[in-house]
Amino acid sequence: MTPSTDLNIPLFERAKALIPGGVNSPVRAFKAVGGTPRFVKRAQGAYFWDANDQRFIDYIGSWGPMILGHGHPAVLEAVQSAALEGFSFGAPTEREVELAEEILSLVPSMEMIRLVSSGTEAGMSAIRLARGATGRSKFIKFEGCYHGHADSLLVKAGSGLATFGNATSAGVPPEVVQHTLVLEYNNIPQLEEAFALHGKELACVMIEPIAGNMNLVRASVPFMRRCRELCTQYGALLVLDEVMTGFRVALGSAQSVYAQSIPGFKPDLTVLGKVIGGGMPLAAFGGPRAIMEHLAPLGGVYQAGTLSGNPVATACGLATLREIKKPGFFDALSARTRSLVDGLAAAAQAEGVPFSTDCEGGMFGFFLLPELPQNYAQVLQTDNARFNTLFHGLLDRGIYIAPALYEAGFVSAAHTADDIAATVAAAREVFKTL
Ligand SMILES: Cc1ncc(COP(=O)(O)O)c(C=O)c1O
Repeated sequence: MTPSTDLNIPLFERAKALIPGGVNSPVRAFKAVGGTPRFVKRAQGAYFWDANDQRFIDYIGSWGPMILGHGHPAVLEAVQSAALEGFSFGAPTEREVELAEEILSLVPSMEMIRLVSSGTEAGMSAIRLARGATGRSKFIKFEGCYHGHADSLLVKAGSGLATFGNATSAGVPPEVVQHTLVLEYNNIPQLEEAFALHGKELACVMIEPIAGNMNLVRASVPFMRRCRELCTQYGALLVLDEVMTGFRVALGSAQSVYAQSIPGFKPDLTVLGKVIGGGMPLAAFGGPRAIMEHLAPLGGVYQAGTLSGNPVATACGLATLREIKKPGFFDALSARTRSLVDGLAAAAQAEGVPFSTDCEGGMFGFFLLPELPQNYAQVLQTDNARFNTLFHGLLDRGIYIAPALYEAGFVSAAHTADDIAATVAAAREVFKTL
């Protein structure tokens, strides 16, 4: 494809004239890796086709939601019949109750749930609820974790534990982030010190249990255990942001993975998104009845939404959850994802490229580093230029991974063994050039 025949280029020019950066969410602009974003025309199964009708094997899956692949027949059927009944009512529907029942039956830490439209909204509302329920203002988040773009969450660490965060976005006043304490992921001594200093003032600790916004970095079991213990000891809420990991790493979400190593492990609040909407705008937060009853209209914590619990989105989410609940679904998905990362690791080793990788369920990550990083500072040691060469080499060969090295990848149930083999073969060719 020469630039003069690439139909993505004029589309991007048109988009840039009208939409800041030509995109409606920054990472889509390919700013980190350079080049022209692919404009998607349509998608089916594990593939999408761009403006040139070139096919790509899709390892983003809309950044996580498309766990069944694109256009799954049962989901399509559910969405079509829901759309025929009406797009939005602004009044309760039975399907919202069904979706709540389905989610709560699979994630027992939640007794009640509130449906919203985006992960940002869910995360922001969970923080408000934690503050309302505890009567405290401060909270902890971790460097490298992303919880959506609410003002108080766009923060990086201050200069020490006594100073709270600095805003990472223009337009966020310092006063808005003055209650957000940003700590290093997986650093137990620092967490203990922060609790010793501020524990009685903390409303919550918010954490991505398996962080997918610094590629893929797991909270270690001792770290997660300590988060749980300290929250309990000081009366702060532990909020797991499972927008990405929820129903993606296991049917019981990441909390069920940690419960295998930490008996009785449960968060106080869970934030969900992505898979529960199956590709439609739907997210949620939930927890024990005693906490959730602080929400309006029962309690004093206000939260609302015109499109919350949208009937087409709930139909899409329900149909998706009913598919992934089928026996053997996660075993097959995990095995497929494992075969991808093992294949990539073997190809990198054969070509002498430093490589480390990890996966859980249908989520994977890799680094051009010999050892898996444990925190954001270590992730930053990755060589950007090499990653970009890998990204473009794969893109040229019809393989679409995230256009930034800080993002996890996703395998769907529609990816076949042949797709994985083709991906590994393409990666091996590119590894030779690194
Ligand atoms: C862990 C996590 N939390 C929250 C969000 C925000 O979700 P949304 O983009 O739906 O607002 C994301 C988005 O990628 C996420 O990965």
